[in-house]
Amino acid sequence: MNGFVLELDRAQTADLEDFRRAVLAGLSSRPRAIPAKFLYDARGSALFDKICELPEYYLTRVETEILRTHAGEIAELAGANSALIEFGSGSSVKSRLLLDAMDPAVYAPIDISREHLDRSMALLQRDYPSLAIEAICADYMALDDLPKLPFSSRRLGFFPGSSIGNLEPDEALAFFRKARHLLGGEGALILGVDLKKDPERLHAAYNDSAGVTAAFTLNLLRRMNRELQATFELDAFAHEAFYNSADGRIEIYFRSLRPQSVTVASRNFTFAEGERVHTEYSYKYDIPQLEAMSRQASFRLRRIWTDPDRQFAVAYLIPA
Ligand code: AVI
Repeated sequence: MNGFVLELDRAQTADLEDFRRAVLAGLSSRPRAIPAKFLYDARGSALFDKICELPEYYLTRVETEILRTHAGEIAELAGANSALIEFGSGSSVKSRLLLDAMDPAVYAPIDISREHLDRSMALLQRDYPSLAIEAICADYMALDDLPKLPFSSRRLGFFPGSSIGNLEPDEALAFFRKARHLLGGEGALILGVDLKKDPERLHAAYNDSAGVTAAFTLNLLRRMNRELQATFELDAFAHEAFYNSADGRIEIYFRSLRPQSVTVASRNFTFAEGERVHTEYSYKYDIPQLEAMSRQASFRLRRIWTDPDRQFAVAYLIPA
């Protein structure tokens, strides 16, 4: 195996102390909020994989289809000898569509989870035995630079799944700027982003009839119970998700179904009936917004592909 994992900063791993601090701060603030990254423990990640297969959750299917259809064009734009760098690579499933079409000189997945990296690298190396893999275990937002990647000319960033949508606008712009810096003057960024659309369609995607998204949100309560000795009663809280059209985002919360008090890490918190705790935003973009954000980060939209219903977009950005 020619891949190795570079641990740029062990302290960046979201550990128990991080979780405890974030939860106590989030429940003490008004409005209450817990950062979305804590939704992804082992069970949360498995539930998210299930979400991606739900009939109502079109995002994964549509993006995969766009990538499959246009991978050849993406490869042409990227040219030979690129380094494919994935931001938050997770299971590296979508990158396979690009790897098949591009045959890059090197694939560099960046992920904060060592476990994800080890697992997906082993599978990738099995299926692409001659691919050079240089995995980077880090929070990409904390990276000042990428390690020198061998054999490659152009750095091609990949940020699929509309993960950009889970960032607040200022964080999304900071990501664009970070990517622009890390990818350099010859680089390019391939971005998958969910588009604004009929609110009913959006509502259904985050309120599926099988209740998997609700289980995903409420899994955070289970995690607090297990890791922070919290006393949340799972059936005394409900998942709540709706589209806020003024801000162009899905908002997700867990809501208290009755007045109650809960202990978390030896601290007591009271909840009024109907009181909620924010867990996620999922921003939806339109093309002019994407263009504006690209411009602010010294990128420009070189190409954009969408599905026939214009639900989702894959954009190819190059330095302006
Ligand atoms: C990971 N992210 C792009 C998902 C989304 O659509 O915002 C997270 C998600 N939360 C509930 N359903 C999906």
